[in-house]
Amino acid sequence: MTVLLRDESGDRRVCLEMVRRDAERLLAAAGMTRAELSVFITGDETMRRLNRDHRGRDKTTNVLSWPQDQEPGPDGTVVLGDIVISSQTAAREAGERGQGVNRRIRRLLVHGFVHLLGFDHERGEEEAALMEAEEKKYMNMLDNRRKQMVSLAINVDHVATLRQARGGAEPDPVAAAAVCELAGAEGIVVHLREDRRHIQERDVRLLRQTVKSKLNLEMGAAEEIIKIALDIGPDMVTLVPEKRQELTTEGGLDVAGQEKKIQDTVARFRDAGVPVSLFIDPDEGQIEAAVRVGATFVEIHTGRYSDAEDEKSREEEFNLISAAAETAFEAGLRVNAGHGLNYLNTAPVAALPTVEELSIGHAVMARAIMVGLDAAVREMREIIRAAS
Ligand code: PXP
Repeated sequence: MTVLLRDESGDRRVCLEMVRRDAERLLAAAGMTRAELSVFITGDETMRRLNRDHRGRDKTTNVLSWPQDQEPGPDGTVVLGDIVISSQTAAREAGERGQGVNRRIRRLLVHGFVHLLGFDHERGEEEAALMEAEEKKYMNMLDNRRKQMVSLAINVDHVATLRQARGGAEPDPVAAAAVCELAGAEGIVVHLREDRRHIQERDVRLLRQTVKSKLNLEMGAAEEIIKIALDIGPDMVTLVPEKRQELTTEGGLDVAGQEKKIQDTVARFRDAGVPVSLFIDPDEGQIEAAVRVGATFVEIHTGRYSDAEDEKSREEEFNLISAAAETAFEAGLRVNAGHGLNYLNTAPVAALPTVEELSIGHAVMARAIMVGLDAAVREMREIIRAAS
């Protein structure tokens, strides 16, 4: 995505970095990772001229927007349009409302952006209500409570899958983890499965010594694995359901259906100083159970969103994830997400205000085969940076 930001206001109260980040996050939240948006911050004089020349109104205003209505370019890039904001009017309005000017500019940016998406409050009451709801959604997203950018944790299981295919020593997931960290990954995830189909105990032990960021051990709550995990002491564990026949972790963990067992496991890790994350479907009952068993994190399963075959079901699945993340955060849980995320569908999830970390494996490794692991991690890092 590209945000072309121009400032002719000379108003130093305007935080241009915030405007750029907000614009990038709006594009990401709307799923427009290939769009170009132009934002122009100006003063009342220019605004008045634009309002007069284009709308026949000889007075200044706070925000104007012009859609581009162009067909997507050959690479899929869409030129969304232009938003023009008068910082002088924004500052006046902010004063009347007892707000800061940057908050008012954020509000105006959202208004202009929602216009570019095709909403128009001037087309009647019903549409005005729809537009207001849309603006509220984007404002809530921007007014997030997240203190830091979303982290990227890379799952290196598939490096081990390739190694196991020949039963030798190459490629080594321990070396791959180091490359991922050098490329900006903030965490390394491995799943030590009971059948040891990819990651081996040796990998986890070495990773414990070499990972400089954060080692997240994914595991089923089986006694043998719990003992290994407690012995190795990763930075956190993520409990997942594990079935021998599955290709990858299928559904989320049924916390509500096995509360006692999970509560005991969580307590054992807590006593050892290892926070526990529970990999759950975006389901309110599971979130409530996660709170009850004393989990520190939940990782919201994004698999159904990633696998959705049409826009409508993708949106429905996304809304479930968004609501679950909010509910979990409000309940005091820390929120991660993952499964099936790729270079096209990650940005909206990264833009969710309560999500801390995304766990991504397959898509990054698939791309790494084509472009190299360093480039694949950096590209994903950039998508997340722009969206969060
Ligand atoms: N999170 C969990 C709990 C997982 O089991 C997996 C798959 O190992 C992932 C995230 C990463 O999923 P993917 O490989 O599809 O990116």
